[in-house]
Formats: sequence, structure tokens, C-alpha cells
Amino acid sequence: MLSLGIDTSCDDTSAAVVIDGTKMLSSVVSSQSFIHKKYGGIVPELASRRHIEMIMPVVQESLLLANVTLKDIDFISVCYGPGLIGSLLVGCGFAKAVGFAGRIPVVPVNHLEGHIFSIFLEYSDLDFPFLAMVVSGGHTCLYIIKDFGQYIELGRTRDDAAGEAYDKVAKILGLGYPGGPVIDKLAKVGNSKAFNLPRAYLPESFDFSFSGIKTAVKLKTQQESLSSTGGTINAQITKDFCASFQAAVVDVLVRKIEWAVAKQSIRKVVLSGGVAANSELREKMKEMAEEKEFKLYLPSISLCTDNAAMIAAAGYHHFLSGNIASLGLNPKAYLPL
Ligand code: KG4
Ligand code: ZN
Repeated sequence: MLSLGIDTSCDDTSAAVVIDGTKMLSSVVSSQSFIHKKYGGIVPELASRRHIEMIMPVVQESLLLANVTLKDIDFISVCYGPGLIGSLLVGCGFAKAVGFAGRIPVVPVNHLEGHIFSIFLEYSDLDFPFLAMVVSGGHTCLYIIKDFGQYIELGRTRDDAAGEAYDKVAKILGLGYPGGPVIDKLAKVGNSKAFNLPRAYLPESFDFSFSGIKTAVKLKTQQESLSSTGGTINAQITKDFCASFQAAVVDVLVRKIEWAVAKQSIRKVVLSGGVAANSELREKMKEMAEEKEFKLYLPSISLCTDNAAMIAAAGYHHFLSGNIASLGLNPKAYLPL
């Protein structure tokens, strides 16, 4: 079964062609970072406008790279939420129009489900149940995945998502958008012990909280600027902030997995979402997996951040279950898993 996947939930326009939810023939992602960079975050109106410009060429390229045409596509998997409503509207509208014109069934997919099922593109033999942590710009959640469609939420962030904290801290430090990759890079040459930042472990809970650490970075950078000559913090201090911030975030995420594995007695852990691309998080999770003897499943970097192959991977199961959207399918900004 060949699926065309489409994701326009945030600031990347993406399309992919996937066989049976596991074999990726193509995956095309058109990033909008260059548009939003100067604002230090995503401007929703600009994001939707760019999706309108890019959806057609991105879909065409994904078909071309997969060496197929729309006639070969068995169903379209489209992300209908959660995300930015204007952005989602573009992908959903496009999928419904193409589906209607080409008599191709359209399957609605939750973006979070896509992140989790991205793992089947590289580990098609992974079996249920497993623990899944989705750490992205919009979400930080921990689930038990019992089977396709059977998800138990253990915890979620009570305020900022981990990626959101990266993006906000990068903005405070004047590092542009998105914050994750640049902080990841600078943290490697900073001193992680330079600043003592709060770690919200929230014991007895699998919830997360990252707004306190962001506020702490803000206050400490203000103090540093006041005491420095010229009123701006120097390059080394910026690197030290990156290293200290990252160490604290990674520590909390790794601890939560350690506790979840111990409490749930599930020895398979899937990490997904943009923050799962973080080099330190990947390393520390691998160390923890070895120490506590659980199996860790990490998607490749390009499958951690938003892509449409993951939407087609999850869409395959919806298609098999007969979950086909009508033309009345409406995107949803808020859509729990
Ligand atoms: O999954 P994703 O592409 O989009 C959402 O669904 O939100 O995640 C984007 C987030 C951004 O906040 C970005 O700063 C973060 O993932 N990110 C990273 C890294 N690469 C991307 N965070 C930490 N380290 C990275 N290397
Ligand atoms: Zn995402």
C-alpha cells in the first residue's frame, strides 16, 4: 500500500511517499526557518502563506523522488492536528482537494501519533508495548503505547514544551530560531557547571515543567549583562549558558525515562520529536539504556524533526482500520492523542 504523507502543522512544509507504513521511498521537507528567524519564533500568518506557496512543489518533488505518480497512490495521510490552525488548513485543504479530484482516500493523522510511529520507518519489527517520549517544540509527553490506537498518557508538560524552552532560551541569548540546533552546538564548548539552573523533577509524577528554567536563564543573563563591560554578555558566557541549560533539560528527561522504565516494567523506549535530535540527550539516553538494561529506539535525526514520512507511517494503520476522512475533515489546533 502506497501512501502520500502530508504535514503542514507548524513551519515545515513536508511530503513523503511510504510503502506499508514502514518503507520510505521519499521524504521532502521545506523549512521556513529563514522566514521566522528574524522574529525569534514562528509567525503563524507567515507560516500559512509559505505553506500555500510550497505545498504543490514539495508534493511534486516527493512523487518524483519516489518515482511514482498520483495514480499509484493508494491513500493520502494528512496531519490534521495539533498545530497552527492556519498551517494545518493548507495541508488538509490540499489533501482533500487532491483526494477528491483523484478519487484517493484521505486518512487523518494526529501529529503526535506521527512522531511516535516514525520509529517504524527504521525499526519495522518493533513490537508493542513500548514507552514513548515525544519531545518537540509543541509537546513534551510520555506514553505507554500498548498497540496501534491504544495509548496511555503517563505525563505531559505543565507549561512549556522542551523544544519551546530551547527556542525561548535561544531568543534570550540572541541566538535566533530555532534554538535547539544552535544551543546543542554551543553547549559542546561551554561549561555545564557555570550556572546552577533549576531542574523540575516533579517527583511522584511523570509530568514535566520547563518554564522555570527559562525564567532562571532570563534573570541570570540580565545579572550577567549588568555586571559586564558594555552591558552585553560575552561569547564564552553565552556558551556556558547553553551548556548549563542543556545539561539541566537533558538530566530531567533522562531521569523521567529511568523512573518510567522502573515503574512500568517496560523495557523498550522510543524517543521522538525535534528535541530527540539533541546530541547530548541521545548520548545520555544511550548510557541510561545500557546501565538500566532497556532497549532504546532512536529515530535518525531527519525523522526526529517534523516530516511527512511519519504521518504516512501512522496513516497506514488508520487506513487498515478503515478510518477514512470525509470532505468535512477540519483541522484541529488542539488534538489530544
Ligand atoms: O518535532 P519538531 O520538528 O516540531 C514540533 O512538532 O514542534 O520540533 C521542533 C523543535 C524546536 O523547538 C527545535 O528547537 C527543537 O525541536 N530541536 C532541537 C534540536 N533540533 C531541533 N532541540 C534540541 N537539540 C536539537 N539538536
Ligand atoms: Zn512535530
